[in-house]
Amino acid sequence: MLLRTIAENGPVHYRLYHPEDFAQFYAIEEICFQPPVRFSRRYLRQIIERGNSVTWVAEQDGSVAGFSAADFTTEFDHTFAYVQTIEVAPAHRNQGIGSELLRRMEDSARAARATVIWLHVDAANEAAIHLYQAHGYRHQGRQEHYYYRGRAADVYVKPLQT
Ligand SMILES: CC(C)(COP(=O)(O)OP(=O)(O)OC[C@H]1O[C@@H](n2cnc3c(N)ncnc32)[C@H](O)[C@@H]1OP(=O)(O)O)[C@@H](O)C(=O)NCCC(=O)NCCS
Repeated sequence: MLLRTIAENGPVHYRLYHPEDFAQFYAIEEICFQPPVRFSRRYLRQIIERGNSVTWVAEQDGSVAGFSAADFTTEFDHTFAYVQTIEVAPAHRNQGIGSELLRRMEDSARAARATVIWLHVDAANEAAIHLYQAHGYRHQGRQEHYYYRGRAADVYVKPLQT
């Protein structure tokens, strides 16, 4: 089984977003999230293409395996990075792609002089919470009914050394 997995998955290449990636991003979004929490095409495009943001892409075997997007806000001389999303297609999970996408967003946040990176995560999303905790994110609070009535988000925060 392990040999089969290694044989099926080639090396992963990380790079920044190109507009041609969008159709593959949205296909991953449709697999990862169901309405009403799924982003619309328009909203996902806005997140990725707005200024003060960064989007990383993981490519494997010639197609997009996953992506992550964060934006940067400066208030009173402090810059905060906010993780908008991180998504890995099911066939490419559990080989460290989510971790590497997160590390790259953090590096970009440091380069933008952010001192903190933070995010909302569905309180029931065990895989994502595991990933964030493993990378040093600490639980900072909960927003009830954040996604929709009865669906809470947890807020996770990580200080960034610059
Ligand atoms: C969260 C997500 C990005 C992780 O991507 P990934 O490429 O599988 O991440 P990695 O391979 O780097 O790490 C996976 C880790 O999660 C663990 N994991 C996987 N499924 C899990 C689960 N259901 N519960 C707890 N931990 C889980 C793995 O064991 C692994 O942990 P380890 O590194 O300690 O061994 C991916 O599951 C995903 O795209 N989910 C759907 C989209 C989503 O929910 N995004 C988060 C939005 S806030």
